[in-house]
Amino acid sequence: MSFQDPPASLSRRRLAAPDWLRKLFASDEIPFADFMEAALYHPEFGYYSSSRNPVGEVGDFVTSPTISPVFGFGLARLSSEFGGRLGDGVYGIVDIGCGDGSLLEAVAAAMAGEHRSKALFFGVDRSLSRVPEPKRGTISFSTDLSALPSDIPLLIFCNELFDALPVTRLLLREGSLREAMVRLRDGFLEWSERPATPAHAQYLNARGIVLDEGQTADVSPAWWQLYEQICGVAARGMIVTFDYGFEQKQLFDRRIRMHGTAAAYRAHGVHRADQFARPDLGVRACRESWPHIDGRADRSRRPPRPRRD
Ligand SMILES: C[S@@+](CC[C@H](N)C(=O)[O-])C[C@H]1O[C@@H](n2cnc3c(N)ncnc32)[C@H](O)[C@@H]1O
Repeated sequence: MSFQDPPASLSRRRLAAPDWLRKLFASDEIPFADFMEAALYHPEFGYYSSSRNPVGEVGDFVTSPTISPVFGFGLARLSSEFGGRLGDGVYGIVDIGCGDGSLLEAVAAAMAGEHRSKALFFGVDRSLSRVPEPKRGTISFSTDLSALPSDIPLLIFCNELFDALPVTRLLLREGSLREAMVRLRDGFLEWSERPATPAHAQYLNARGIVLDEGQTADVSPAWWQLYEQICGVAARGMIVTFDYGFEQKQLFDRRIRMHGTAAAYRAHGVHRADQFARPDLGVRACRESWPHIDGRADRSRRPPRPRRD
């Protein structure tokens, strides 16, 4: 079924699909989450796979490590305190979703004396194409969590990791839950939709999320799956995660976020309606509400719980 009357969150624009993207369409339409996965992480053409760094003044958006050295300095203080409380043993400082490794480099540079000498540094990212050679000396980089050591305590940082995971776009239309799809027609991309699966409805029901007519919600099971994996990495340690987010009540409040939270960025401009039409833009989503991920951390019995403030 085509989108005759797209809500404001979805563009009416049609854009020519590049060849690499066309090849992903086994049928004439794919879920938006699959499109977002390809747009961000296609091994050759994905936004985060390229050697161009999208973060920083000359990129598309900024993150805390690129705005000021204060962030790295603060985390260095925390890292030293973590090391100090452990006694003599070696420990690891990890950044998951480390991008070009700048944050770890800043933390390592700002740490002093004995705490620094006991610390090993690990950067994990799905793509390491943005890591310059010099940083590889101080920091061990990997694309996989399984490469992290499990026999030493780990202080794990995640900065703006969860907002870069693919999301499913769900819409309530004429009382039915629908899933936003991206369709390839005559070489052009356009929005489409199909009935949502029972699993989608269950996802919302289980959390008590009720959408209003015409409302869009961007959600992803990948959020807490990844968080649970991270909780399972270290036998001892602490996870400190920084990200955008709202408590569920605000996140799905139709008066504030009627059209979901996914947005694409280019040169510090935000494009809310054209995420699919511009596969070269970095599509990012405001992550799920914190209490859900808190709950996951509780079940894994690994304190502390993350807070958005
Ligand atoms: C918005 S960027 C943030 C980069 C950096 N942390 C910063 O603050 O500047 C998100 C990063 O998370 C990485 N990423 C996404 N999913 C990941 C996963 N499952 N494991 C590791 N890295 C991931 C992306 O490749 C990207 O580099």
